[in-house]
Amino acid sequence: MRPRTIAIDGPAASGKTTVGETLARRLGYLFLDTGVMYRAVTWAALRDNVAVGDEHRVIELAEELEIRITDSTPQDDGRHYTVLVDGDDVTWHIRSPAVDANVSVVAAYRGVRRALVPVQRRLARQGPVVMAGRDIGTVVLPDAELKIFLDATVEERARRRWEETRNRSDGEIDYRDVLDSMRRRDRIDKNRDVSPLRPARDAVVIDTTELSIDKVVEEAHRLVEERGCP
Ligand code: DC
Repeated sequence: MRPRTIAIDGPAASGKTTVGETLARRLGYLFLDTGVMYRAVTWAALRDNVAVGDEHRVIELAEELEIRITDSTPQDDGRHYTVLVDGDDVTWHIRSPAVDANVSVVAAYRGVRRALVPVQRRLARQGPVVMAGRDIGTVVLPDAELKIFLDATVEERARRRWEETRNRSDGEIDYRDVLDSMRRRDRIDKNRDVSPLRPARDAVVIDTTELSIDKVVEEAHRLVEERGCP
């Protein structure tokens, strides 16, 4: 039997979403990118003029928001899924530099994680799943049958994010700004008290710096089949 619960963790722009999504499609599994939820809370805080440093109000927001992730993609604009917050389509808004710059602070609040992790676990029970994030193998689904940790140098990850953002926006984006923002997020994600970013002890670590996305998907798929053999 193939593993039915697959955790993919790693830092920003390590390839988790593309690999996870492709793998899930191939296997016919549900895919959930948990970063979307932390981004949605951050976007809502910015929308409501709640200072991200105001822990109490940010936690209230995380508890109250209705976040929905749907497969249906009526728009042909490169999206993999649609994210709705209280009914508003925020799929691209949650990828803005402002959200990028603030999301790590929001994700470090224990109360925010306390609100979101049970939702993630509930979704995982709906069927075989590939779930991507920072703490899936360590905290959210510690019993996942396959755990993959994707990594890459910060320079390469910033380059990927810079290209992605540049293709989507009108104005010029400075690579150095993306690199600085990514370094800052890495620092916060790795050093926070609650659920810090690190590979689970039983995770398979793949360095994607020099690998094409196709190669990483192949390797992940191979691991799935390998795990499936007695
Ligand atoms: O993967 P991403 O860049 O969309 O994640 C956005 C932020 O959310 C990132 O700073 C780390 C945080 N995050 C987290 O703490 N735990 C997760 N399971 C997923 C994301």
